[in-house]
Amino acid sequence: MDIGGLRILGIETSCDETAAAVVHRSPDGVGTILSDVVLSQLDLHAAFGGVVPELAARSHVSVLDRLVSEALAESGVALTEIDAIAVTSGPGLIGGLMVGLMTGKAIAMATAKPFMGVNHLEGHALTARLTDTVAFPYLLLLVSGGHTQIVLVKGVGDYERWGTTIDDALGEAFDKTAKLLGLGYPGGPMVEQAALDGIPKRFRLPVPMRKDPRLDFSFSGLKTAVRQMAEAEAPLSRQTIADLCLAFQVSVTASLDDRIAMALERFSQRFGTESKPALVVAGGVAANTAIRTTLERRADKAGFRFIAPPPNLCTDNAAMIAWAGAERMAAGLPFDTLDLAPRSRWPLDQTAIALIGHGKRGAKA
Ligand code: KG4
Ligand code: ZN
Repeated sequence: MDIGGLRILGIETSCDETAAAVVHRSPDGVGTILSDVVLSQLDLHAAFGGVVPELAARSHVSVLDRLVSEALAESGVALTEIDAIAVTSGPGLIGGLMVGLMTGKAIAMATAKPFMGVNHLEGHALTARLTDTVAFPYLLLLVSGGHTQIVLVKGVGDYERWGTTIDDALGEAFDKTAKLLGLGYPGGPMVEQAALDGIPKRFRLPVPMRKDPRLDFSFSGLKTAVRQMAEAEAPLSRQTIADLCLAFQVSVTASLDDRIAMALERFSQRFGTESKPALVVAGGVAANTAIRTTLERRADKAGFRFIAPPPNLCTDNAAMIAWAGAERMAAGLPFDTLDLAPRSRWPLDQTAIALIGHGKRGAKA
């Protein structure tokens, strides 16, 4: 029978997943997911080739109450036994954030429990400490539909953003490339699948930002290059689509590899590698096998552990929000009041300069 620790109810509604979860954090920092309910809105947005914010918010409203009840029931924890409510309060689509916040605040108010607004990116950043024992500091590569960032995670609430995209997020680039090649949404898995049949080196694309001393990313030029090649080859055969997908994947993988090699070097110079620090990769794009394999090899070579949380915890979920809430509470960080406002843009590193595309994906549909 567990006596100590924290039990946190988490809520996530910042994009196109409605999610609720209950997570336990023991006093020595071990996390256990007691329930993790996610309802994807994929089908709702598929016809539009991207997330439609208004539809997303309406859908969150209609299912969130039920998901919270399910998460509580599955966890076996009564609402009265919950220590705090943690809700994503940004960055993200404002309508969805409002739905989650209102629900979380209502529960907190009705039960007189502490309430925390959690940064969605902090959820992604700390997931590795829920799934694996990872000590601070570590390096995080966050690659999703809305974010592409290299972040130094120094502690709970203590982040340095080392690099970000200057245009499209990587998942967004996968999605747009898939769309222009006539593949479905979300594009990442489709491009990866098609690339399996691709003929290597039939098309060659540049590697964005290679050797650039800034640790930033850029993917929109690549997408344009694919478009131009596709137009030149039209009408596209299945084989040509596969070949273009492979060329795109090879190029973005090489770009990530180049950027991460530089980041690992910078980390090593500052902290050393004696303690075998971790390179953590998170976000939906981390599900890509070619990318994972390449980064793992790179980490290995540089003397780092490679940690990629399981795909269901890489993509958006509420367990990561509950966990970030638990970590914040354990670190003694303050709770929020019930007048907390949602923030569509909210960089993890408040000192980092805002670059286009660093925020959560917006009305990209
Ligand atoms: O983290 P996520 O579920 O949602 C947010 O954007 O926050 O990431 C979704 C993104 C989409 O752009 C999707 O195309 C991409 O992750 N993705 C992939 C793969 N699976 C999902 N990209 C490349 N390869 C994949 N296997
Ligand atoms: Zn996310």
